[in-house]
Amino acid sequence: MSRTALIAGNWKMNLDHLQAIATVQKLAWTLKDAHYDYDGVEVAVFPPFTDLRSVQTLISADKLQIRFGAQDLSEHDGGAYTGDISGAFLKALDAAYVIVGHSERRTMHGETDEIVAAKTAAAVRHGLVPVVCVGETMEDRTARGAGVVPVEQLQVVLDSVAPADIVVAYEPVWAIGSGQAATAEQAQEDCSALRRAIQTAWGDERAAPTRILYGGSVKSGNIASFMREPDIDGALVGGASLDATEFAAIARYKHHVGR
Ligand code: PGA
Repeated sequence: MSRTALIAGNWKMNLDHLQAIATVQKLAWTLKDAHYDYDGVEVAVFPPFTDLRSVQTLISADKLQIRFGAQDLSEHDGGAYTGDISGAFLKALDAAYVIVGHSERRTMHGETDEIVAAKTAAAVRHGLVPVVCVGETMEDRTARGAGVVPVEQLQVVLDSVAPADIVVAYEPVWAIGSGQAATAEQAQEDCSALRRAIQTAWGDERAAPTRILYGGSVKSGNIASFMREPDIDGALVGGASLDATEFAAIARYKHHVGR
């Protein structure tokens, strides 16, 4: 089963709407200069909410093939939820994706597996592809075994949401923003465990095409090693996605395999 790789840039709370326009323009020019094949490897950016309209307008005016998504959404469709954003609004902006359950939201905003599952269901309901983030600490991995905690987190989603087109992102907590990426072997171990869990819950017809990304200190210098693994279908890139040149180099990983 061949899966189209996805290189996703999670900007977190960085870049205002003017900086967002400049960054997406630079990314598009850099990839154009390199005759980038978007059908071969998809590229998506995940800017802050206040940037989304600007990014959408740029992408549609210049007919760019870069896709975009939001970093979070409400589990509710609309109503008295001050500060929250409905999946319906994101869909109306032509967002393709939405990140749910990023470890920063789990730890800083108390998002439980149940909330993450409800947000995943909301994304699917509104025709967005959720990028469901799961991860483990080094202590979890040592005490309970590779993949046990991320699989438990994903299981809550798999048990409560009907089979759907989702992307899963495995992001070990120790690797996020630390410069200490997991090894490709560690990441493969977890990503294959996650794929097995999807297979068991949703069947092979869903497990085989589901893209599983690795995230945590991905850079142009280490992306190729992850992409060689059979169960890793792309990357969720934080810090390195803020620099258009570096992010374009990550998306062009096929050109530096073996580095
Ligand atoms: P990082 O972040 O690439 O800066 O480690 C990844 C993420 O949190 O999605």
